[in-house]
Amino acid sequence: MVVSKPIEGIYPVGAAVDDHGVLTLGGLSVRELINRFDSPLYVMDDATIRQQCRYYTRTLSEVYPNHMVVFAGKACLNLGILNLVAEEGLGVDVVSAGELWTALKSNVPIPSILLHGNNKSLAELEMALNYSVRIVVDHEEELQTILQLVEQRGLMARIMFRLKPEIEAHTHDFIKTGQIDSKFGIDQSDLLRLVRLVKDHPKIRLLGLHSHIGSQIFDSRPYLELADLMAMHTIRVSEELGRPLDEINLGGGIGIQYTGSDDPMPIPDMVSQLAFRLKDNFDRVGLRHPKLILEPGRSIVGSAGVTLYTVGAIKSIPGIKTYLFVDGGMADNIRPMLYQAQYSMCVANKATEPASNQYAVAGRYCESGDVLTHQVALAPVETGDIIAVFGTGAYNFTMASNYNRSPKPAMVLVGHQKATVWVERETLDDLIRLDRI
Ligand code: LLP
Repeated sequence: MVVSKPIEGIYPVGAAVDDHGVLTLGGLSVRELINRFDSPLYVMDDATIRQQCRYYTRTLSEVYPNHMVVFAGKACLNLGILNLVAEEGLGVDVVSAGELWTALKSNVPIPSILLHGNNKSLAELEMALNYSVRIVVDHEEELQTILQLVEQRGLMARIMFRLKPEIEAHTHDFIKTGQIDSKFGIDQSDLLRLVRLVKDHPKIRLLGLHSHIGSQIFDSRPYLELADLMAMHTIRVSEELGRPLDEINLGGGIGIQYTGSDDPMPIPDMVSQLAFRLKDNFDRVGLRHPKLILEPGRSIVGSAGVTLYTVGAIKSIPGIKTYLFVDGGMADNIRPMLYQAQYSMCVANKATEPASNQYAVAGRYCESGDVLTHQVALAPVETGDIIAVFGTGAYNFTMASNYNRSPKPAMVLVGHQKATVWVERETLDDLIRLDRI
């Protein structure tokens, strides 16, 4: 495939080019997909999602049999994706009543659902307790609320404590979470005090400790450091409780390749290094291996996603740049504006033509910052061409907005020459559905 940067890993497994030089996804030409489902369109590749799930589950089955992989729902959440990852044996972590409701309506078994959040509402905590969903406790005030709730309602709570690991993950400042000034998690020096509050409580089961150091992480060093730290705290807490903790959750964060300059360690290598390091820590003190929970989001769905746009006008500013305008932009993908995120893209109906021209790709929204990329080499573009942006499966759909009262695009799953709608395109009526006069 000749596209702007022909790198394996960026494209979904099910991407190819047909005899007419048109990109196909899951065996369907992008022309056909747009004709059927309109533009812009989020396309998710079944084969890639399954492959990514299996990188985790198969590696762990070999090196750390006592494990559970939960998909971080915030990366891409709807019933379709949850049912797919459930088929692959994954659970889901959720951070709001809306995400929890979606999980409860999906095929993910309740024991594989985790509720996160640094500011869970009373209603969210009650919902989790009523459905026996495990809660990852972020701070002492939340613990006190849970203690009150279980006492008032006679319910049982299964909890984990989220620790602030203070480990440097080399990633964008906005997506770091484990550092000292992070809003997430319990200070390590407070941990044992909180453990004592629940130690003999008949209605609370402390399952284990949780931590998450950040997102889009490329190498294993911070994870090995995390494994040591979390094992150390797990051992201390187990001693305090007089029983081994059941679980240890090391969060998500493994990075993916968006462009040729990204070089993440392969998932099986990352996961096995981490699992071995964890086992060593427990073997050294003769403690049985607690269930290892991982919470990948981006690395499950990121590379599976391709956004298809249709080119409208092309505006040349002589001597400066040529803008090509697409029919989406910041409302369906805020990441370039929020994190200076870079993507690989191609002219999907000219996928074998050399990328000989330079363009800036701008969206359709009334905001100067609505530019998907300031510079990309593409095949010569005409109005009506289809631009495919790769690697949009994570944090695009879930971070989409209705800015400029734009209906959100549909999302379809493709594979084996079939497309299945996961989420319908919003209609103009959807946009005024909740308005009252
Ligand atoms: N677990 C917890 C507690 C998290 O906060 C996150 C992500 C994950 C797991 C999954 O991390 P992943 O495997 O996807 O890296 N909107 C940003 C990413 C924010 C990540 C927030 N937490 C972006 O578009 O890059």
